[in-house]
Order: sequence, then C-alpha cells, then structure tokens
Amino acid sequence: MSANDPSTIARDAKSEAQGANVDKSPAKIAGMFDAIAGRYDLLNTVLSGGVDRYWRHHAIASLKLTGRERLLDVCTGTADVALGAARKATGAARVVGVDFSGAMLSHGLVKVKQVDLSNRVQLIRGDAMNLPVASGSVDAATIAFGIRNVQQPEVACRELVRVLRPGGRLAILEFGTPSSPVFGPIYQWYSRNILPRIGRAVSRHDAAYSYLPESIGAFPYGDQFTGILSAAGFSHVEARPFMFGAVYLYTGQKT
Ligand SMILES: C[S@@+](CC[C@H](N)C(=O)[O-])C[C@H]1O[C@@H](n2cnc3c(N)ncnc32)[C@H](O)[C@@H]1O
Repeated sequence: MSANDPSTIARDAKSEAQGANVDKSPAKIAGMFDAIAGRYDLLNTVLSGGVDRYWRHHAIASLKLTGRERLLDVCTGTADVALGAARKATGAARVVGVDFSGAMLSHGLVKVKQVDLSNRVQLIRGDAMNLPVASGSVDAATIAFGIRNVQQPEVACRELVRVLRPGGRLAILEFGTPSSPVFGPIYQWYSRNILPRIGRAVSRHDAAYSYLPESIGAFPYGDQFTGILSAAGFSHVEARPFMFGAVYLYTGQKT
C-alpha cells in the first residue's frame, strides 16, 4: 500500500480528526499513569489475556542481544521490558529505563529489587522527547506501548536516533487497528465496549481506559509509522503485525 493509496489518505484524515481530540499533554499523561500505576500490571494481564508477555519477548528477541549491550527502554513504566532484557541469558549487560511517571517507576523499582537486578537495571525519570542520555551511548533501544502516548512521537523517534550508536538496533511495540474483515470488527467492539469497562472497574480511573481506544484509533500504524521511523533516520525499518495488526513490532537500525 502506498502513501497515496485512497485508503491511506482516508485513514490519515480519520487519524488527524481523531488525534485532534486526544489530549496528550505531558501533565495529563503522566498524571493518568501515576493514578493507575498500582493496577497497571494486573490490567495488562487481564486485558491482553497474558499475551502481552509474548509480544515483549519478541521485541527483545528481535534485538539479537549478546550479553554485552547497553540498552535503553523508553517509556519503561513498571519496567517489564527493562527486566526482560536484563534477565535473558544473553540479555543486555546494562539497562536504563526512562519514564516521566514517578509512580510507574516506583512500582518498577520494587520489581527490579525483587529479582536482585539493581546492579544492572537503572530507572530514571525523564521525557521521551528530551532523553537524559548522552548521544551515541546505547547499543539498543526499546519502547513498548509508550510511543502512542508521546505528544510529539516524531521528536521522540529523533531522540532515539541521537542516543543510539551507529548500527544500534531499535524495537518498538505499539497497538494498531486490525484490518481482518472477521477479527477487525470483533476487536473494535471489544476495545470500544468491553476493554474500557474492565479497565475502569479494575483501575477505578474513569478517563484512562476511555483514552486507550481513543489513542489507539488516532495513532499511525503499519506503513504510516514505518514512514515516521525512516524520516527520523532509521534504516532497515520493518513492521511485523501480531493478531492481524492489533499490535505491531517495529524494528530498525541506526545507520
Ligand atoms: C502503556 S505504558 C507502557 C509501559 C511499559 N513500557 C510496558 O510495556 O508495560 C506507557 C508509559 O509511557 C510513559 N510515557 C508516556 N509519554 C512519555 C514521555 N513523553 N516521556 C516519558 N514517559 C512517557 C507513561 O508514563 C507510561 O508509564
């Protein structure tokens, strides 16, 4: 499908219209994740049926780590990817997780201490659009289900290019909109009707799980997002869909 394809243009227009209504100001997003941090891991497992672990596993595996790398996990949240990358037998040597939600990081820190990885996993507060990391200092970078929440994703992608060393690998997981004529409508119904109800009941936060389907519907996916990564400066950019495109794994490399 090309950028000039009528369905792409229609999708662009729809995304822009929906995106205009989704408030992604850092104060709102950080406040929302602060409010649901205590229930975030439980909600992830319930809402995805546990499949989220499989997606994260594939993202980490795509980096082909050897045990020597310094990895940056942006929008690290409660540190699942950061820990997954450090725990693998041939995982990263050092992992830095960055997030602007203090409460998400606090829960992540508890998990880091529980598995005794404080010497290899460091969590720091910071913004994806202005990473507190030196240029060319990391071998691999990840973002799992975070880029959709960033106010200016293009800026965050350029930051990832800046902090990676030449040849450094990138893996991004993000939701998409499934195109399958059978699974697509079922998924849309689930994400608009069931998911926000379960989310609200478990998190006791009204806005957070209405925001989830809204932000997914408004975010570019597939070839639109690979275009953003290429424009930021990544090469060998690929998108691998899971569950008919409900989730995508985007990979790329800094040249
Ligand atoms: C859906 S959670 C994903 C957490 C984790 N990566 C995972 O896989 O479960 C999104 C995270 O992105 C963080 N976030 C969103 N925008 C951010 C930004 N501009 N800078 C830093 N963190 C951000 C939120 O605070 C939240 O913890």
